[in-house]
Amino acid sequence: MKVLSWIAAPLWPLLIVSGQKSFRANPFLGSVALNRLGLHVARVQIAERMAAARRARLAPRIDARLRAQYEREGFIAIENFLPAEEFAALRRDLEEAPLASWERREGATVTRRGSLDLLDIEGRPVLQRLMASPAIPDLLRYAAGCGGEPLIHLQTVLAEGDTRRPDPQNTLHMDTFHSTAKAWLYLQDVGIEDGPLMYVPGSHRLTPARLEWERELSACAARHDDPEIAAGSFRIADETLADLGYPPARALAVPANTLVVANTHGFHARKASARPTARSEIYGSLRRNPFLPVTGLHLHSLPGLKGHLSTRQAQIDAALARYLGLKGPWVAVPPKRLSDPASI
Ligand SMILES: [Fe+2]
Repeated sequence: MKVLSWIAAPLWPLLIVSGQKSFRANPFLGSVALNRLGLHVARVQIAERMAAARRARLAPRIDARLRAQYEREGFIAIENFLPAEEFAALRRDLEEAPLASWERREGATVTRRGSLDLLDIEGRPVLQRLMASPAIPDLLRYAAGCGGEPLIHLQTVLAEGDTRRPDPQNTLHMDTFHSTAKAWLYLQDVGIEDGPLMYVPGSHRLTPARLEWERELSACAARHDDPEIAAGSFRIADETLADLGYPPARALAVPANTLVVANTHGFHARKASARPTARSEIYGSLRRNPFLPVTGLHLHSLPGLKGHLSTRQAQIDAALARYLGLKGPWVAVPPKRLSDPASI
């Protein structure tokens, strides 16, 4: 890995205008002197302005009330997202028929992804209707402030409820330095003890205090003890939120069939639970180069990739493991139904 990193050295300065976020992987982005001078903060501010311009172009596809909720909170929550019979049929399908699946472990939590690629949902009309609808992709594009093709699959989070083995998702954090979006259409009720999403309302907006906090952290990030911070995903303590003028995080305990779409540049976490929990959702994510002036031209929209993203990602992971020895965190497991236990 070290050798590969040095081979890429001539690219380091060019990657300023990419989505690269790791302070440790790119010594240029991790430079103490440059970040004291404002390199990181400049990337944050320019990315923010460009996202706002793209978001304005995407706005006509989004209902005005939902846009207002997004502007205020940084997330959109829609109860009864699917008609009741459609939601029941979706649940039934996923309970009865297995999907091609992968699992990864972080601490005491196993996350499972089930493919909703075109070939994997053939003959399953409720899944085909869901994936053909532009509703979730449009909201993801709006919250992310970019166009393109989101990755959408079934996600099941199986938390063993062991607080001695922490999961990095349980700490309030921002995913990266710019607007990105994630979506969860919950398949069960999510109570306060079921590992709900925590979100700090309004933290998708930059403030002078937030920028100053990011400037200070960026200067020491490359050598930070916390590997997630060194990798560009800043963590924040509850007491620091108040210093930055943000309210406390809110737990989004919601009924089944609620869609939540959030800008994950805002501070968020999955609430830790002291007891074992299983939570399933149709899960979407969208992240692109934040410095693109256009909303189109996404590699993932090309024929052969659109509708095949989960399969292609698994093929790329397998090739990286086989030819470069780079083993990713995801492990292929036998096809799984919604309520099946973890295999890893
Ligand atoms: Fe996150």
